[in-house]
Amino acid sequence: MMKEYEHKDSLYGRDLITTEDWSLDEIMRTLELAEDMQKNRFSPKYTELLKDRSFFMFFHNPSVRTRQSFECAATELGGHAQYLEPGGMRLKTKKTAGETIEDTAKVMSRYAAGIGIRILEDKIASYGEGDNMLREYAKWADVPIISMAHDKYHPCQGLADIMGLRKHIGENLKGKKLLLYWGHGALARSWCSVQEALLLYSRLGMSITVAHPEGYDLDPEVIKTTKLHCKEQGQKFEIIHDTVKGFEDANVVYARNWMSPNAYHDGEFHKEEEIVKALKYTDWICDEDKMKHTDDGLFIHPMPVDRGHEVTDEVASGKRSIIYDVAENRLHVQKAIMALTMSEKYR
Ligand code: CP
Repeated sequence: MMKEYEHKDSLYGRDLITTEDWSLDEIMRTLELAEDMQKNRFSPKYTELLKDRSFFMFFHNPSVRTRQSFECAATELGGHAQYLEPGGMRLKTKKTAGETIEDTAKVMSRYAAGIGIRILEDKIASYGEGDNMLREYAKWADVPIISMAHDKYHPCQGLADIMGLRKHIGENLKGKKLLLYWGHGALARSWCSVQEALLLYSRLGMSITVAHPEGYDLDPEVIKTTKLHCKEQGQKFEIIHDTVKGFEDANVVYARNWMSPNAYHDGEFHKEEEIVKALKYTDWICDEDKMKHTDDGLFIHPMPVDRGHEVTDEVASGKRSIIYDVAENRLHVQKAIMALTMSEKYR
């Protein structure tokens, strides 16, 4: 839903729950601004864009990159990012009485220029609940709602990945092959980063191979949309269950653990069950032997990396790994997102 002050050609006031909700032109505008913000990090053209403004951050789950990069982003734009502890706010939940999303969103909109929300894993009872929650906030808030990673999507991560690929491969990603590879991690990860990657990389013309053991299917709707993007772009899409085959000729290898569709049952997230199950697949690790089959492929990962499970140290810290560039990009893309959606200059 458009907020009343939105203009068709401006991103001012827009929510960002997944990059699928933004046009390709809007995505490219954001990436180009982020790239310029990286080159001219402390230029006066950027340092007062959010002067005296606050960005509120609801973190239902922990974070290293997202929290620090949003705080730095707000500071570098002349504003302030405020960390909110949802557990201390008497919010209404399925189990407890408290303030509704409508009231919370309306009140927060009176204070802040924008609101970020992270909700993942054990903080929801079923897949999709986090996405519904963000969309409910977006319905009632008068300021942009930005996903800081929720059960379905992680748009800031997707944009940071693409910024990294543009630097290391070039602006035209069409025809480059992504291998999205399931790693046997010990963290039972949400689907947000890998699903955002599938949607965005395919939209930008990359061919996609997803490799995972049987029983680790992702959201069928996301797979359907990814397939459609690949078809529109004339690119291949495949899902395989082989530990090595997908590495053949890959330009980018994204090795990451993700939970199985059975992680949520009986109204709860079963983390320990998922970990015990995942750790049995010891062959599912990205290592140097497998990377030798690629077309001098880059290694990408949203971090935190589960070294020794998802990927070996040798690959994660190797010369083709771009993990730290991508982590840095979180700062630049979030500055661009905040500027375009919250600063009067881009209204
Ligand atoms: N990639 C990412 O979102 O990292 P954090 O969980 O540390 O924020």
